Amino acid sequence: MKTLLELITIEMRDAFKKAGYGEELAKVTLSNRPDLCEYQCNGAMAGAKQYKKAPFMIAEDVAANLKESAYFESVDVVKPGFINLKLSAQSAALYLNEMAAEEKLGVEDEKAPRTVMIDYGGPNVAKPLHVGHLRSAIIGESVKRIIRFKGNHVIGDIHLGDWGYQMGLIITELKKRQPDLPYFDEAFDGEYPEEPPFTISELEEIYPTASAYAKENEEYREEALHATYLLQNGYRGYRAIWNHIMNVSVADLKKNYEKLNVEFDLWKGEADAQQYIPDMVQMLKDGGYARYDEGALVVDVQEESDNKEVPPCMILKSDGAALYDTTDLATLVEREKDYRPDEVIYVVDKRQELHFTQVFRCAKKTGIVRPETELKFLGFGTMNGKDGKPFKTREGGVMRLESLIREIDEEMYKKIMDNRTVEEGEARQTAQTVGLAAIKYGDLSNQASKDYIFDVDRFTSFEGNTGPYILYTIVRIKSILNKYKENGGCLDGLKVRPAENGYEKALMLQVLKFNDVFEAVYEETAPHRLCAYIYELANEFNKFYHETKILSEEDEERRAGYIALLVLAKRVLETCIGLLGFEAPERM
Ligand code: ARG
Repeated sequence: MKTLLELITIEMRDAFKKAGYGEELAKVTLSNRPDLCEYQCNGAMAGAKQYKKAPFMIAEDVAANLKESAYFESVDVVKPGFINLKLSAQSAALYLNEMAAEEKLGVEDEKAPRTVMIDYGGPNVAKPLHVGHLRSAIIGESVKRIIRFKGNHVIGDIHLGDWGYQMGLIITELKKRQPDLPYFDEAFDGEYPEEPPFTISELEEIYPTASAYAKENEEYREEALHATYLLQNGYRGYRAIWNHIMNVSVADLKKNYEKLNVEFDLWKGEADAQQYIPDMVQMLKDGGYARYDEGALVVDVQEESDNKEVPPCMILKSDGAALYDTTDLATLVEREKDYRPDEVIYVVDKRQELHFTQVFRCAKKTGIVRPETELKFLGFGTMNGKDGKPFKTREGGVMRLESLIREIDEEMYKKIMDNRTVEEGEARQTAQTVGLAAIKYGDLSNQASKDYIFDVDRFTSFEGNTGPYILYTIVRIKSILNKYKENGGCLDGLKVRPAENGYEKALMLQVLKFNDVFEAVYEETAPHRLCAYIYELANEFNKFYHETKILSEEDEERRAGYIALLVLAKRVLETCIGLLGFEAPERM
């Protein structure tokens, strides 16, 4: 169904045309002076020059054609030539009832659905997940859901960092601790054990130990590098250890992401792309794209319009080793072969922007992707602590994701118990649901590219622009609806009625904006705008709630009309938080 802005724009175009002006002037927007009007059109100003007429007169001519329209309660012309519109209560109610009948609240599927791959999460196997990976998971998950909601074919790929030096470090440390394992016996040609030689907690301890040791011990570092080399060149024993690391680590990652309500369609990684490298390198050479620079194979990607230097894409080091650029290019080869995506979106720390500029240019220039394939870098800022520095534990160490979640859950649990509306067991469960909303909303309500301050006290507050406030509002609506049912009411088939007062109308206007807001969120890949929208929606609902007797309204039809509006407001709120990647509890 058409969004309300589209519908009003059609009316406006008609009015311009009838008055003898070009329809292209008829652009309607949400008002930036909600105290004066709800929608506005500034087209008369734009037409003044062309028609050599005062904008005010043009606006008057146009407005004369709108006075009869059923859409509007008022059409005011304001100097120098604004047309200010207020929607009629009837048409607002009519629109809301149409929205309610639509499965996706009036959002239309993309006419030509595209295949969009989202590269997000990007954890490094065997290294503990830390808060830096949190943003990628949270933003990527929401972006995935938003693009999917519009009817596109969306594939989320975790793109594991599973092929690097950390693997060599673990192998080296394991060899030091358990030299008798068959993986280290070159002569061994039997079956390797099925049981992994470590548990997840051991693995998590092995990596930091090895990494710290390698920094001090040159010989050990060399050995780890060599182990990485052997692994990457197919040495059987190391390949078997790699499999163990992957199994143990991926099982643990799956658990962690599940807790975050983050779901990947593909669990591919850097290792999967390696098989595409030899042919790709050959193609780059044969096509005349690559050249040798001090022994390294590179592809130039500098463009004339650049005002700073963009270094060449590094394909192979002088010792023949592949690099981060190489892996990302080979991954595009793989994606092109398996999915032919129309677009690939990378949700990665913005400090990696240059890397992606190089990769995208190289992929385009060499035909690894088709000319029409969109490659998009969605870079996010750093999550800082209250001191404005990258988020740390109280002791100053790198904050593990698990500890962060535990801290938030604990804080939420305390708050929920203070309210004393639920029992302890339920409070634990609820604390997790609300805690996740606190984290995700705290993150997503900021424009992704900006740094932000992770403030546990603020994010867990039930008041203000926070996840818990949004959930609290939803829970409040649920509780009203439940009481309505307990009193014998039925929620099916209710119709929203034309608003009779300002609070009701304001709430309606906010609800019916949903599909217009969604389009903007989708066009701009901007979850933060969805947050801003539901914050306002929650505010409008709470104002209405405080000013209106809902359940105790004596007029049965009016009461039913309120309930219909609440049912719809709840659906809109729940749809939005679903797109943001969290959900509401029954009570809190
Ligand atoms: N594993 C990388 C890191 O931790 C992020 C991967 C991002 N995705 C990509 N295709 N390079 O920095």
